[in-house]
Amino acid sequence: MSFYETALKSGNSIFAVAPMIDWTDRHCRFLHRQLSREALLYTEMVVADAIIHGPRERLLSFSPQEHPVALQLGGSDAGKLCEAIRIASDYGYDEINLNVGCPSDRVQSGTFGACLMRDPGHVADLVAAMKQVSSVPVTVKCRIGIDDQEPADVLPDFLARMIGAGADAIWIHARKAWLQGLSPKENREIPPLDYDLVHRMKRENPNVFLGVNGGISDLEQAKAHLSVMDGVMLGRAAYQNTGLLAGVDAMLKGSSPAGVATVDADWLALRDTMIAYAEHVIASGGRLHHVTRHMVGLFQGYAGARRFRQILSSEATKPGAGTEIISAAFAAVDLAGETERAAERIAG
Ligand SMILES: Cc1cc2nc3c(=O)[nH]c(=O)nc-3n(C[C@H](O)[C@H](O)[C@H](O)COP(=O)(O)O)c2cc1C
Repeated sequence: MSFYETALKSGNSIFAVAPMIDWTDRHCRFLHRQLSREALLYTEMVVADAIIHGPRERLLSFSPQEHPVALQLGGSDAGKLCEAIRIASDYGYDEINLNVGCPSDRVQSGTFGACLMRDPGHVADLVAAMKQVSSVPVTVKCRIGIDDQEPADVLPDFLARMIGAGADAIWIHARKAWLQGLSPKENREIPPLDYDLVHRMKRENPNVFLGVNGGISDLEQAKAHLSVMDGVMLGRAAYQNTGLLAGVDAMLKGSSPAGVATVDADWLALRDTMIAYAEHVIASGGRLHHVTRHMVGLFQGYAGARRFRQILSSEATKPGAGTEIISAAFAAVDLAGETERAAERIAG
């Protein structure tokens, strides 16, 4: 039974950190994993052609601590997607996800990403072919429609076809993509969110795992969606306010996100783990900044957070920068003060 079936049968929700190009690389995922044992982590989108012809090891390798990790593929050719899955199978990903939501010009010229929403029959063929070669769940991340499509008309048909093709889960970014005239960034902000439609899709498909994505900015909102949906996927909020992830496991267990009472001990353990990890990355030819650039959003709202960010942004980027900069950055944050405030919040 796949972990999606288990989640669906047992009523356990899944919290995912969205695939984000240039952001959710292996170092980012390693950091996120330190904050949540349970979160499902997605790679950046990797184009099938790049896996077949490009630097595989660099594109696909990751640390065992990152599990569960889903590999997101971009492509529209069944043969290439299947070949990419065969190659990736050596790396032990927990899920293969097909990108049917990315609106960038580069992606459109390759006729994959969001423009595939126009051809659900073809996407269903891709999913069916991918299922044939994958030993792990095959899932889809889509929009509610594109351009002049009417989401209430096209989304039910799109989902029915994905389900018919055997998709193990579908993650729905609850807004359209407008392929003409908007940048990818604008396409994450301007088309309006339609959570009602996505929630309705869940009610109409009780036996299929459906997750919602788009515009969810904190764990309270995530929790509210989970009263209807099987899963919730956060992108920008999880990356830019990374500390939010420290409350995810408690939220999923049903205890309150006030589990942050133990932040003091956790943050210091996190510091030490990230120092050890960064040392390993540097010893393997990487740079401190490759790790620390994902850490700047850790302490939003804490006294000392600005200094933490400054140290990481200015010092960690210098040639030859070492891991003592991570210690210096953590030392700038008032962790004890935050622990007291967390304790007060719980008591009060
Ligand atoms: C920097 C960045 C890169 C992204 N790259 C991808 C990607 O590779 N694949 C994908 O499906 N979506 C990508 N997205 C979209 C996110 O996965 C997500 O659908 C979107 O940000 C909406 O969720 P949010 O409001 O929680 O951020 C990206 C978003 C951002 C901000």
